[in-house]
Amino acid sequence: MTMPSTVVKDLAEQLAQQHREGQRPLVGEFKHWQHRRDADDVLWVEFDRQGTTTNTLCTEVLTEFNTILQHIEEQPPTLVAIYSAKASGFCAGADIKQFTEASQSDMSEMLRQGHGILDRLENLSVPTLAIIHGHCLGGGLELALACQRRIGIIGIESGVKYTLEMGFPEIRLGLHPGLGGTRRLTRLIDPNVAMSLMLTGKSIYGTATKQQGLVDELIEWRHLGNAVKAKLRQKFTRQSATLRQRLFSTAPGRKLAAKRMRALSQQQAPHEHYPAPFALIELWETFGGDPEAMQTAEQESFVKLVATDTARNLIRVFFLQQALKLLAGKSRPIQNVHVIGAGAMGGDIAAFCAMQGLRVTLSDQKLEPIANAVHQARRLCQRKHRSAIQTRETLDRLIPDPDNHGIASADLIIEAVPENLEVKRALYALIEPRMQDSAILATNTSSIPLDQLAESLRKPERFLGLHFFNPVSEMLVVEVVRHASARGETDASALQSALALTGAIGKLPISVASYPGFLVNRALTPYLLEAVTMLDEKIDKQRIDQVALNFGMPMGPLALADQIGLDVCLHVADMLAASLSQPMAAVPDWLRQKVTRGELGKKTGEGFYHWTQGKVSNKGKKQDRHNGQHAGTEANQEIQDRLILPMLNACVECHRNGVVSDLAQLDAAMVFGAGFAPFRGGPVHYARSVGIDRIVERLTQLQEKFGDRFTPDPGWKDVGRL
Ligand code: NAI
Repeated sequence: MTMPSTVVKDLAEQLAQQHREGQRPLVGEFKHWQHRRDADDVLWVEFDRQGTTTNTLCTEVLTEFNTILQHIEEQPPTLVAIYSAKASGFCAGADIKQFTEASQSDMSEMLRQGHGILDRLENLSVPTLAIIHGHCLGGGLELALACQRRIGIIGIESGVKYTLEMGFPEIRLGLHPGLGGTRRLTRLIDPNVAMSLMLTGKSIYGTATKQQGLVDELIEWRHLGNAVKAKLRQKFTRQSATLRQRLFSTAPGRKLAAKRMRALSQQQAPHEHYPAPFALIELWETFGGDPEAMQTAEQESFVKLVATDTARNLIRVFFLQQALKLLAGKSRPIQNVHVIGAGAMGGDIAAFCAMQGLRVTLSDQKLEPIANAVHQARRLCQRKHRSAIQTRETLDRLIPDPDNHGIASADLIIEAVPENLEVKRALYALIEPRMQDSAILATNTSSIPLDQLAESLRKPERFLGLHFFNPVSEMLVVEVVRHASARGETDASALQSALALTGAIGKLPISVASYPGFLVNRALTPYLLEAVTMLDEKIDKQRIDQVALNFGMPMGPLALADQIGLDVCLHVADMLAASLSQPMAAVPDWLRQKVTRGELGKKTGEGFYHWTQGKVSNKGKKQDRHNGQHAGTEANQEIQDRLILPMLNACVECHRNGVVSDLAQLDAAMVFGAGFAPFRGGPVHYARSVGIDRIVERLTQLQEKFGDRFTPDPGWKDVGRL
């Protein structure tokens, strides 16, 4: 594989050798940067942060860069071209670890210095050019924006496909850009687009980066030499302001737009939980017409945001996510997957794995589900913006295999036939003798204990659960389930391979022991059931859901149950009630009748809500984060406690029973698998911040008032304090 650095180095070295054989570098050697002048007196500055595969900005990186800037000022070249040596991209952003470790005054000082360095780059008297490939995010984009021009690299070079991803993801960490990005981006491109990029944290990809004005041109590596030569002949002038930029340079123009942005942000992420979007809007509304004032205000606002609980918790969740990615490990990757059962789950699992590069054979007892799955795969590729070639390659990898020929060569067989112990066991008896010795058999069961499924297996040690959630392509988490039964337990190598598979297809693995509902469904079920109990008590459904939204859940429990499917929820609730000794809320008869009538939620259009075209229709309307924002009454607090605390209690029960051994992993699983309010840092972190004693006391009060389903789990004593 040709690294971008090799391409640029070759180019620069070729030119240098032709004309200035043996010329010494301009300044001394650095840890994170390389540089050389070529025959045209272009200074090529290569960013290559030591000891990492991805460039990030930190104090040391910027300090070295500052020295390079000083020498550029002393001995100006004709042009400065900055590029990255990393295959992954230009720069992924600032080193977040530094934020978490710095005191407020250190943080202010770091920002002041960082701003000084990027301003110095911006103010150089020579033309500056950022050459960008791969990701250019956060602080990386701020570095690129401080250059006068930006060239994006696309296309295929030596078999490697180069794409671009540019954006400001800081908002997802409870922050906004902090190294001058807020002022530079709003002045470079349409301020409305700039604000929307920063407020949503969404990236812009490929050719759209040019359409939106983030880069000046898009080229392939091989044209870089000519493109830079052309730049030498151009004068870099500042583009004149567009009509929109002029409009938003006025206070009334910004005020109007800010009002709309606030309303939108409030709907997506309410102010009291997510202060960053509002701080950003305020910053732009107040100072958007005065770049200098905006720069100072940006630093002050950033320092304040870093200290908020929201940012701290979101950063914590970010690191938990990184840890889960590492958990996937780098075991020998699975190449060939055979999926049996091409229904709602199996079809999507097969399509997703094929899209992610695995060779998948897919079988079903009927032909129609297989054909549907292939169709689904095509739609999935379109939804995920895969090119026509990538779509064709995905479909080539997804092989219809009604006769199960794929079993013989598969490294992994994923079973996704209906949730019935006998059906699954009968299938295992047929397929196990045809499997390779080293192959792994995985079930996607959501409720059948693995030891029951393993009972008649010849090789129980090669058996495990791979619990994908629905919809497969959207849900990030997969529970990797091990079992330990009298006949043997899942062996470590099978587990490692399964974890590596989840990583290879871009999912986050949660390693759990077999337990009723595993972790995520065990913890979510009391949340859903308590909402049903409240409906029985004639509490308004929208109020119940609203209280959960106000807590920070992405969806209220009733809307979520509709989304999952009331039949699936009922099945899981019955299974949990039958397998656990802990008391659970009873399922009311009217809910069973609803399911019998076929009112299953979103998929049939009727559930707790009325759904049209995949959305809650106005008839049964609607969760609105505005309503009830201030309904912090005692009654609403009780609703919140009844919904949330049993979920926490179930998490503690899972920990006590060894379903998950690591509490941080439990937090991550609940945030990414169950949507637990991310800004609260996960259920255990939240419980600790409230106080374990207070949580236990409140559960005891609820137990006295509503019954034993609220009995505090004995495991709370092991959860400890903050
Ligand atoms: P489904 O009913 O949509 O699909 C099952 C497929 O298996 C059907 O196409 C059927 O023709 C096929 N099939 C039945 N018996 C077979 C056999 N002996 N050999 C080959 N194919 C056979 O079911 P769904 O919803 O996809 O569920 C599959 C598994 O995934 C179940 O264990 C379920 O608990 C689990 N699951 C389901 C979730 C959901 O939301 N639907 C979520 C997570 C897990």
